Amino acid sequence: MRVNDNTRSGTGTNLDPWYGNYAARAAGLAASEVRALFAVASRPEVVSLAGGMPFVSGLPQDLVIDAMNRVMTGNGAAALQYGSGQGVPALREQILDVMALEGIKAGVDDVVVTTGSQHALELVSKLFLDPGDVVLSEGPSYVTAVVIFKSYQAEIEHVPMDEHGLIPEALREHIAGLKRAGKRIKFLYTIPTFHNPAGVTLSWERRIEILEICRSEGILVLEDNPYGLLYFEEKPPAAIRSLETDGVIYLGTFSKTLAPGFRVGWALAPHAIREKLILANEAAVLSPSSFSQLIISQYLDTADWKGQIDRFRGIYKERKETMLSALTEYLPDLSWTNPNGGFYVWLTLPDYLDSKQMLPRAVTELVAYTPGTAFFADGQGRNNIRLSFCYPTPEQIKLGIRRLTSVINAERDLLESFSATGPLSAVRRDDNYTAPPPNTN
Ligand SMILES: Cc1ncc(COP(=O)(O)O)c(C=O)c1O
Repeated sequence: MRVNDNTRSGTGTNLDPWYGNYAARAAGLAASEVRALFAVASRPEVVSLAGGMPFVSGLPQDLVIDAMNRVMTGNGAAALQYGSGQGVPALREQILDVMALEGIKAGVDDVVVTTGSQHALELVSKLFLDPGDVVLSEGPSYVTAVVIFKSYQAEIEHVPMDEHGLIPEALREHIAGLKRAGKRIKFLYTIPTFHNPAGVTLSWERRIEILEICRSEGILVLEDNPYGLLYFEEKPPAAIRSLETDGVIYLGTFSKTLAPGFRVGWALAPHAIREKLILANEAAVLSPSSFSQLIISQYLDTADWKGQIDRFRGIYKERKETMLSALTEYLPDLSWTNPNGGFYVWLTLPDYLDSKQMLPRAVTELVAYTPGTAFFADGQGRNNIRLSFCYPTPEQIKLGIRRLTSVINAERDLLESFSATGPLSAVRRDDNYTAPPPNTN
């Protein structure tokens, strides 16, 4: 078939003849240089502290095989068929039990099953964001949510956090500033529990206060909670959604407590929004995978899923402790967060170091991480690093931190030798420099 050349804009390139034809929203979908490096970082000799991949080998395969066999022998035709755009009713019922563990009460009709919570983020953005709208989010924030918001040509306004999560006073100030500038705020996107990438958790008092602010300003809250059940010591505070039904869209997923390969997540939304979400879900995928949903439903019915989550907690706790003790041993003058759950530690380097520039060197030294700038829409985070402890073994984590230390120290030495009398001399490790204390929230 001949392509009709008249449809080309004429501004294509040799690499992409359709370059000039993309919608404006596709401009936000540029692959970063970091992404290219990650292809190298996936080589087996590289210790990757970069991804957010759960340790799926910690899930006994026979549990999944058993659920799969039961589904295919008892309900095979339904598993292989299209299903409802809202999701399998039995699974939605079970999702209520999962959410009850985080203090959420809801009805089975309030749940919309999606293709991972990632797809719920996409659908909510599609429903709410016009070009120029503002999304408030923590700074830093989940990298692929930022990519989605940008792809809908929204402006992302980062609100600072401390060790107790998003700072309410800063939220008030940002809202006031945006209103003065005549901006339209569409929602607050927040990961209150075991934040990705910062590792911190929003305190209960702040959950109440932030909700009050959003209520009084008429701002919808989009609460994203993939990690809440993966706590190490204390149970985290109940979800924001436990406090409010009408002003919160809550997102959950089986990716981190079971396995991301199923691609099953969900949105819990106020009535009117939920109706639109179902229509958007149908328009996008017709129905989420019946096969995956029925297997998960069977698994929740017959396996000890709470016991399995306990085992995951133990695995991730050991990994986090290994990472923190390696950091304490090798990089004692730096600071980092101490998460009580989830997958991530947020490391702060001296402010004269640039983690993105340092990354090629790190990959050469066979360790990978995600530079802090990836988690901001506006270039902040230069001297931050997200370290993931979810996937590598404790031995690999220790080795990875050792390698990272030699990269950081080589970078410091290099910069210091170029600046013996400059501002860097004030932060030499062998001077009387006192680093900020590690954050031990
Ligand atoms: C904060 C956050 N939201 C959403 C997702 C997407 O998860 P999934 O689409 O696998 O449910 C992730 C995955 O890492 C995440 O960290």
